[in-house]
Amino acid sequence: MKKMWWQEAIIYQIYVRSFKDSNGDGIGDLNGIKSRLDYLQDLGVDTIWISPHYDSPMDDNGYDVRDFYKVSEDYGTLDDFRVFLATAHQKGIKVIIDLVLNHTSDEHPWFLAAKDPHHPEHEKYHDYYIWQPPKYDDLGQKQFPTHWISWFGGPVWEYNPPTDEYYLHIFSKKMPDLNWRNKAMREDLKAMIKWWIDLGVDGFRVDASNHLEKNWDFPDAKPGYENFSSLPKHHEYLEELGKELFEPNNLIIIGESGGATREEALQYAGYDSHEFNMLVQFEHCWVDCDPYNQLTPGKWAKGVVDVARIKHSFKYWIDVFKNKGWNTLYWHNHDMPRIVSHYGNDTDQWHEKSAKMLAYTLYLLPGTPIVYYGEEIGMTNVDYENLTDFRDVEVYTEYENFIRNGASHDVAMQALRDRARDNARSPMQWNDSAYAGFSQVEPWMKVNGNYPSINVKRQRAQENSILNTYKRLLRLRKDESLAFADVTFIDIDHPQSFNLKVSGKDFDYIVLANFKSTPFTMDAVNLEGYEVFLTNSDALRAKERVWRFEPYEARIYRKAK
Ligand code: NOJ
Repeated sequence: MKKMWWQEAIIYQIYVRSFKDSNGDGIGDLNGIKSRLDYLQDLGVDTIWISPHYDSPMDDNGYDVRDFYKVSEDYGTLDDFRVFLATAHQKGIKVIIDLVLNHTSDEHPWFLAAKDPHHPEHEKYHDYYIWQPPKYDDLGQKQFPTHWISWFGGPVWEYNPPTDEYYLHIFSKKMPDLNWRNKAMREDLKAMIKWWIDLGVDGFRVDASNHLEKNWDFPDAKPGYENFSSLPKHHEYLEELGKELFEPNNLIIIGESGGATREEALQYAGYDSHEFNMLVQFEHCWVDCDPYNQLTPGKWAKGVVDVARIKHSFKYWIDVFKNKGWNTLYWHNHDMPRIVSHYGNDTDQWHEKSAKMLAYTLYLLPGTPIVYYGEEIGMTNVDYENLTDFRDVEVYTEYENFIRNGASHDVAMQALRDRARDNARSPMQWNDSAYAGFSQVEPWMKVNGNYPSINVKRQRAQENSILNTYKRLLRLRKDESLAFADVTFIDIDHPQSFNLKVSGKDFDYIVLANFKSTPFTMDAVNLEGYEVFLTNSDALRAKERVWRFEPYEARIYRKAK
């Protein structure tokens, strides 16, 4: 396999709504991103992925697309997009856009025609979506076709009186699922994809890719996820896109497949696959769920972080793709809590240290890294006080579920504060002026109260800040070709250490880290010939090889080859 440009890319994910407001409406926009390209370049980023920028009623912040060919008025115009893209390209930065193919908004013209029997194009568009007739109980009461549960917590079915049918929506009810078995629908989507390729984008992140196919027998089940996740036929659809559109255009394609099984990895992103170049699955992202919590169950149940599971997951995906495909590296994205609050520690005492530890343990590994905006300054979960502080559509259905399960308001709020996606969507903290320098006016969602101390301006000025640590590690990735590095996990089953041996171009590296909030004594690792390269703690301790590790203490040693 010859080297591809995207193998050594350093990707930065931007949640457009929250990155930088340029026109004073409290909402981030494309011109805002454009004004920060130099910052990204200085950080060492050469590729950005932006969350959906299309016209949308914003039920799910743009993942509900109303018009694929139009830029959301919140974010600018198509001309703004063109200028933003050209400016990024001039600076050597590539741009990946989000491709939402599983569903549209219920305000998309296709759906407006589909749901209305009197619409002149009803015949054509009805079959672009997925419909089922009601069921009736013994008393003649209307029932859902099945008891499947949507990813946002409620039923997947919504009744449409004019056709006396239910439509399927595996996310919010304003996001009806498309029928991928319909060829005309696929052709329409392909024309749209081609249009963005012709406009010059460098790649796509394919949203919710493993949900494109459904079980058309509609068996009853609850929650029934297996009927709309990872069904084999979705690979056929992805391959069709890959062969016709992705491969011929030298694009970077990152597929999102939340339920990707390990067996499927190479099918998605092996060198001889025609689907994606890289995959994001979430195996390492929720290794701290308490299975016994019945009040706020599943991902909402905060438990103990299983460090060995994270290491095994990283190792598994690295091994599986070795010489056969390509790996991605990321701690989290816009669907999870902030990593420093989630797996690190966001108290004043340990914030900086644990954020750096998380950087050391991830960014020397092989593959293509995706840094999530604000991660590079250690942005934390947000101090939301009231339910009305939240913006995410998912929060409101889940809150109701928690209360129904018997949780008190306080317990429900704490689960949201710990785990809600909104934690990772607050405005970027640029400086300590009003609204964190994100906007001149009150932003669309609350700025995190810690912005006076956690912000870009402050960290730029501090040589050893989290920001400068990221800069250093991202530079190191390039200098040492770490994208292609060999790695060994040392003592992988240890529940507290996160130790690696990484072989770069000119140096060998050993990363030693305490992933937890308690000190412990590490088994000595052979460091003969190694020197301290980086530490988040006292340099002397690292130099003298003190084996007692303080909470979150982490070190990188290196030795010339
Ligand atoms: C996955 C996206 O990452 C998430 O934010 C969104 O809500 C769903 N797909 C639906 O598009």
